[in-house]
Amino acid sequence: MRDRIRILNVVGARPNFMKIAPLMSAYRRNEVIEPLLIHTGQHYDENMSRLFFHDLGIPEPDFNLEVGSGSHAVQTAEIMKSFEPVVLRSRPDAVLVVGDVNGTIACGLVAVKLGVPLVHVEAGLRSGDRTMPEEINRILTDAISDLLFCTEQSGIDNLAREGIGAEKAFLVGNLMVDSLLDHRERCQASSILETLRLMPRKYAVLTLHRPSNVDDRDVLTGILDALVEIHADMSIVLPLHPRLRKSLVDFGLNQRLAGMNRLRVTDPLGYLDFLRLMSEAGIVLTDSGGIQEETTILQVPCLTLRENTERPVTLDVGTNRLAGTTTESILTAFRSTFSNRVAGEVPPLWDGQAAGRIVAILAEKLPRIRAARSH
Ligand code: UD1
Repeated sequence: MRDRIRILNVVGARPNFMKIAPLMSAYRRNEVIEPLLIHTGQHYDENMSRLFFHDLGIPEPDFNLEVGSGSHAVQTAEIMKSFEPVVLRSRPDAVLVVGDVNGTIACGLVAVKLGVPLVHVEAGLRSGDRTMPEEINRILTDAISDLLFCTEQSGIDNLAREGIGAEKAFLVGNLMVDSLLDHRERCQASSILETLRLMPRKYAVLTLHRPSNVDDRDVLTGILDALVEIHADMSIVLPLHPRLRKSLVDFGLNQRLAGMNRLRVTDPLGYLDFLRLMSEAGIVLTDSGGIQEETTILQVPCLTLRENTERPVTLDVGTNRLAGTTTESILTAFRSTFSNRVAGEVPPLWDGQAAGRIVAILAEKLPRIRAARSH
């Protein structure tokens, strides 16, 4: 038997990269674990993937599956087909997946069916909305995982309700916050505000990519109508996710944006530029999961353009508010943000030390799991 514990770590889409970066550096400080990195290739554009490896100092992946885009079934199946031989060849002691993207469940399924223990980071989050593809990925991945790491207490509580208890589930803090705190100083060197001619606190940042918002013409039109009003008050920066870019073309909605002279539409930004942009913003409007957490740490007001969130701690103690997706609900939330501004607090354990906690637990538990399975 090998001395070291070999862990195959999976990334695939943009929100995975900031979660894996601090983990890869924490592994380097541990002698028990031998990490390998695998990229499913779900996100493949330079500015959706490579730029993040560069900004976050993530090592080159040991394997790249290059699956690209496709329907959910195609993407999930392609990842499974290409991942299985990698697991067979590299014979890991565990597979570690993060978040809730298609690669999370695809690689999780492959691992457990080959008898390899599965570790899920960012486990237990639940929006309660099963029409979200990510919610299905979360529920299924948690159900088959052997070790589960949660960012907030709601995750531990949700898992307990689903029969997953304290022997497997651990509250460790938030890897995304580790990355943010690691790069907060460095992002000051970004010249994104100057490039876009923005004054600190005098602009809004908007990101949109969820299928429920951008694939539905009426919902998207309603959000853009709110944008037109907000634009009367402040500049807006909109880094375009490829899914939104496609919908604007398909629905012929680009014209609606054309007349807004204080709207800056950009390609998706790198990590450091986006972090600087968020940290100096007056407000952030988003349907992203991670941005709700990042604005909580940055203490920037965040309006989440959804009816629900799987990250309730950001509502309870942070600066996040649910704004819904209609023109009216967004504008009401926008106006009330400036009339009663809340000072948020930092959720428990969001202190930049999550990676160290995860590695310590892995180094303790995985040798025992391996020993138990080899008998
Ligand atoms: C995926 C994740 C979502 C995550 C989001 C962050 C799932 C189910 N969804 O959604 O949880 O919040 O990533 O971005 O895994 N495309 C490009 N270039 C790229 C990547 C995608 O042009 O580098 C295009 C694709 O061709 C497709 C669209 O963008 O048309 C959407 O990509 P897809 O991978 O299906 O999912 P996301 O919407 O990005």
